[in-house]
Amino acid sequence: MDKFIIHGGTKLKGTVAIGGSKNAALALMPATLLASGKYQFLNIPDLRDITTMGRLLQMMGADVEKADQTLRLNTFRVNKFEAPYEQVKKMRASIYVLGPLVARYGYAKVSLPGGCAWGPRPVNLHIEGIRKLGAKIEIDQGYIIAKAKRLKAAKIAFDVSSVGATGNIIMAAVLAKGTTIIENAAIEPEITALSEFLSKMGARIAGLGTKRLEIDGVDALHPSDETMIPDRIEAGTFLMAAAMTGGTVKLERCNPIHLAAVLTKLEEIGAIIDVGENWIKIKSNKTIKPVDVTTAVYPGFPTDMQAQWMALMAIAKGSSIIKDSIYFDRFKHVPELIRLGANIELNKNTALVKGVKKLMGTKVMSTDLRASASLVLAGLVADGKTEVLRVYHLDRGYEYIEKKLHALGAKIKRISGKEY
Ligand code: EPZ
Repeated sequence: MDKFIIHGGTKLKGTVAIGGSKNAALALMPATLLASGKYQFLNIPDLRDITTMGRLLQMMGADVEKADQTLRLNTFRVNKFEAPYEQVKKMRASIYVLGPLVARYGYAKVSLPGGCAWGPRPVNLHIEGIRKLGAKIEIDQGYIIAKAKRLKAAKIAFDVSSVGATGNIIMAAVLAKGTTIIENAAIEPEITALSEFLSKMGARIAGLGTKRLEIDGVDALHPSDETMIPDRIEAGTFLMAAAMTGGTVKLERCNPIHLAAVLTKLEEIGAIIDVGENWIKIKSNKTIKPVDVTTAVYPGFPTDMQAQWMALMAIAKGSSIIKDSIYFDRFKHVPELIRLGANIELNKNTALVKGVKKLMGTKVMSTDLRASASLVLAGLVADGKTEVLRVYHLDRGYEYIEKKLHALGAKIKRISGKEY
């Protein structure tokens, strides 16, 4: 298992190109099951999760090949409609195949995802939504088995605004008979990107980007091509790295609109932010003011930036409160940040972070994607050497993060597993 060695203390300076959105790609790849034929996706990042999703589609009979940032799929020969536990346990987003499979082929057998590093991740909204669309669903030995001659439109109101459930139900409804209404739909940019792609495939979706979607089911869709939107979480992570190290960094190939809540908070800590159509420049202040954050669904402050924000607040000049209202137990990074010298008191899903003058480098353990990112950020400012172990978690969602940080001046290198 690879690890990073980081020597803290360098101000990040320079320009970094942001990659394509992992979470948009993970929604659009399964959508290719909705129509047989050839697809080409551009601006696809080199990430383990993308490889995992590609392998799942291959197991179903699709041809999948990636060359640089281009992904080509051909779903002509899809002939298996299962997502086995061995695949799904690697990545929860595998459940995205449920909606397309039952909508297009009338059958799906998808493993329940099980938990993740930070606790249970239910899929009841996915199952209830597909059932409301007329599928016969049973849970058998840890598998969701869904059958339907043809799905029928329904009115679906989500109690909780769920990114994944919204994506799954949209992908099911586009081929259902009649007009489906979805209330309290997720409006994360990745879901809007999915709806836009489905529209290019011939789907009829009204209300794009709003919490109420009206979907007129059609009899068939056709393949299309797409370019992935930028990864807003990778962008936010680099902005926080720049803010923490006292640097000046320009992000290219990103979308400032997708980061509005994060940019506002960064200005509140004292950073100077400049934006253009597809770039963001941050000039950090030597003092980091403490700023409270409560995570929320889009366009609020993203839960996927909560861990990184905590690393930033760990060295703020004062105390701040960080609350995760989306995932009440997404705090595996807290004990590791404390090992680096952070002063954090956790009470249920709320952390009181008292800024300290200095973090001290040591060995820390990655547990999940965004927690690992927060440990890397802390290592960039900690005194001395920080070793971040099990960085395969990072490789799931950050494309060559150590190379990009090194190009900005960070003293960071990867030690591959066999060397230690
Ligand atoms: C997506 O996960 C993202 N993953 C996550 O990013 C992100 O943290 C999350 O949305 C929230 O923004 C992908 O897009 C692949 P949810 P998802 O369904 O769809 C509850 C990353 O770091 N819920 O919006 O699984 C759930 O427990 C990953 O890139 C139900 O109760 O998240 C949570 O409290 C990590 N029942 C809330 O909804 C359900 O059936 C939001 O979850 C589904 C969800």
